[in-house]
Amino acid sequence: MPDLAGVVRAIADEMRARPDRGEVARYIPELARADPRAFGLAVIDAAGTVAVGGDADVPFSIQSISKVFTLTLALGMIGDRLWRRVGREPSGNPFNSIVQLELERGVPRNPFINAGAIAVTDVILSGHQPREALGEILRFLQALAQDPTITIDEAVAASEKRTGFRNVALANFMRSFGVLDNPVDYTLGVYFHHCAIAMSCRQLATAGRFLAHSGRNPATGYSVVSPERARRINAVMLTCGHYDGSGEFAYRVGLPGKSGVGGGILAIAPGKASIAVWSPGLDAAGNSHLGRIALEALTKRLGWSIF
Ligand code: DON
Repeated sequence: MPDLAGVVRAIADEMRARPDRGEVARYIPELARADPRAFGLAVIDAAGTVAVGGDADVPFSIQSISKVFTLTLALGMIGDRLWRRVGREPSGNPFNSIVQLELERGVPRNPFINAGAIAVTDVILSGHQPREALGEILRFLQALAQDPTITIDEAVAASEKRTGFRNVALANFMRSFGVLDNPVDYTLGVYFHHCAIAMSCRQLATAGRFLAHSGRNPATGYSVVSPERARRINAVMLTCGHYDGSGEFAYRVGLPGKSGVGGGILAIAPGKASIAVWSPGLDAAGNSHLGRIALEALTKRLGWSIF
């Protein structure tokens, strides 16, 4: 069995030396400030051993990775009724696309494209004030990562609020079909803020552990979701977690994964490990360029592909 710490360190060194880094996201102006030379990797195995490389303790904007946790919370609140509001099929379209929404009567294809995640946030908001819903999401992440210092980057949230015209359009379109219940401003306020949560690779890998271990966080012994629900969340991550790059990610990495435009990816090796990687440069589908390459190297060297 290759030594985990050695493999993680070697991959971090190799990635830091590569000249091809992709392009940092610019459509949220605050994200354009990220340093494309950054690279971090954290792996936590079943025994709780943590292996880190590069900038594994530097917080970054988790963006769409937050959608894994909002999906988990919304399923906990209304169970399988959630699937009446949002589908679970890959969209084959970019994360912020609007084209399918009209044809499919305002029901987004899956909970990870922006429209689907906004519909999930609307479920979490129901019956609460926006600040209560947001507090719920943040506390959930703090509890999973066992770190009460995790916060929201207000500059990123404000930057997206100023420029998120596409999401405003998606939300209004869904509201016109009756798919959203709450005032669009409220739902988007919560959505922009949960996307702006800042976490390091180490914190994110810790937070994802329940998905690698049948719904139970081995650090606390606490069951976050049932084994069946953990399997299903992983299935949606595998098929939809990288948008129109999901097939390529499954082909190359072979793990359930969720990306964010901040350059992070959370990947789950069921029964084995929770993995977080971060490199801000993105590929054409908006997924971390070096993050995917690093995960491909990791699963190859450790034999961790699920296939
Ligand atoms: O809504 C947006 O566009 C961003 N807050 C999140 C998009 C995202 O992270 C897509 N991921 N690769």
